Amino acid sequence: MIICIGAGPGDVAYLTQRGAELIRNADVVAGFDAVVNVVQSLIPGTAQVVTMNYRDQTERLAEVAAAHHADKNCVVVFMGDIHFSGFQYLERVERACGHPVETLPGISSAQILASRAKVCFDETTFITLHRRGDLEPFKRHLVHVLQDWRNAIVIPCPWDEARSFMPRHIAAYLLEQGIPPEHPTEVWENLTRSEAEWHGTLSDCASQEFSDMSIMLIRTLSPMSSQIEPPGAAS
Ligand SMILES: C[S@@+](CC[C@H](N)C(=O)[O-])C[C@H]1O[C@@H](n2cnc3c(N)ncnc32)[C@H](O)[C@@H]1O
Repeated sequence: MIICIGAGPGDVAYLTQRGAELIRNADVVAGFDAVVNVVQSLIPGTAQVVTMNYRDQTERLAEVAAAHHADKNCVVVFMGDIHFSGFQYLERVERACGHPVETLPGISSAQILASRAKVCFDETTFITLHRRGDLEPFKRHLVHVLQDWRNAIVIPCPWDEARSFMPRHIAAYLLEQGIPPEHPTEVWENLTRSEAEWHGTLSDCASQEFSDMSIMLIRTLSPMSSQIEPPGAAS
């Protein structure tokens, strides 16, 4: 058996009970170092731990796939929720195994941000720029989201200088595209651990530096008004 599970946003208290149960019963627990660290306290002493990084992930996942094909119970842990900014890693797991793999959702950093900043999913679009390949369609979509009066929750890209697209780059790009500079903007770092929050405008954000572990909220300039009945009216 092999299953990919969302480990939550960083504090193990946000791991689902089902996720914890799967880890406690695993023969092999695999994932990026920082994510394995999140669930370390739950990994049985008898389990094999396979940690990896961007450079050696293909070789390490081949080891995990071999253990899975040898009938070991394997769990691959993902940061936050697999289904937001996790599908390229999932594709790598499935490529190593040679077949589709089951997933268990986790709590995403986007959900924690939505809760801290009190934004409603219905009126918000989630975009990640933390991915390989062509970012242009995602950047364009972000422009359309804001033009459509929706909030945007954005995961920036913290990689090397050539590819890095952090909050200041995102803000500068949006301003170049004609998005108004006064959009209220927030950047939250290390959610559920040593949290830090920054509030300003899109224009202010263009000169701010943030750590890799950050997530951005760009609020619409025109929040939806209430669509429930006025107070005191019959429902
Ligand atoms: C590859 S993405 C994975 C996101 C993850 N699947 C999720 O649902 O949160 C990794 C990026 O998510 C953001 N992130 C993840 N956890 C975070 C946290 N606790 N606080 C702030 N940002 C976080 C950071 O930008 C980080 O570089």
